[in-house]
Amino acid sequence: MSEESDPRPYYAHVARNREPILEVLRRVLPPQGLVLEVASGSGEHAAYFAKRLPTLLWQPTEPDPRALASIAAHRTAAGAPNLLTPLRLDAMSEEWPVQRADALVCIDMIHITPWAACKGLMTGAERTLRSGGVLYLYGPYQIDGRHTAQSNEDFDGMECILLYPLARWRRSFMTAFRKLWDAYTHLSLVVSYGLFRACSM
Ligand SMILES: C[S@@+](CC[C@H](N)C(=O)[O-])C[C@H]1O[C@@H](n2cnc3c(N)ncnc32)[C@H](O)[C@@H]1O
Repeated sequence: MSEESDPRPYYAHVARNREPILEVLRRVLPPQGLVLEVASGSGEHAAYFAKRLPTLLWQPTEPDPRALASIAAHRTAAGAPNLLTPLRLDAMSEEWPVQRADALVCIDMIHITPWAACKGLMTGAERTLRSGGVLYLYGPYQIDGRHTAQSNEDFDGMECILLYPLARWRRSFMTAFRKLWDAYTHLSLVVSYGLFRACSM
């Protein structure tokens, strides 16, 4: 693939967070089965995790066509037989292209999307996962209304980088999210509190 036609971006935040996330995934994911990743972005996480978790099938998804092209290119380069062809999935849609999964992974999505996407993720998780199935979330979330790092607090104030209109719920994000979670108690929620260190736009 020539450099000009290569659709793959490489993100510093992925290089930073993929190993700590993998450590958690090794502990919380089932030993076998299908992992559905929502909002796979560039596909770097999918390629990295699929290669290191070879007993799991990894299904990357994205609503963005450019991201889908990047994921497909990362998949080809990775050559991991357990990394499936990326599928188009919008968390807000009532019909997902995957009906059943053994775990769901969503990294750095719900803090930048409208609340409807967050709700869509939960509803989709409920439809797709079996009882006790793991929904793994990673992001720069607050705990009990407080940020876990100064960089996250700075990010929260940076309206310039938001891809979606700023909504007030984001400021007390995990509090709101946990309330929503109460409606889905038969699933297992695993949350990693990530760092937002740099403005990328
Ligand atoms: C900050 S990026 C994170 C991407 C990747 N998980 C990562 O950590 O690099 C947020 C991603 O959410 C995706 N996204 C936005 N709205 C979405 C929705 N309604 N359903 C699924 N994905 C969505 C975007 O296309 C984007 O790739």
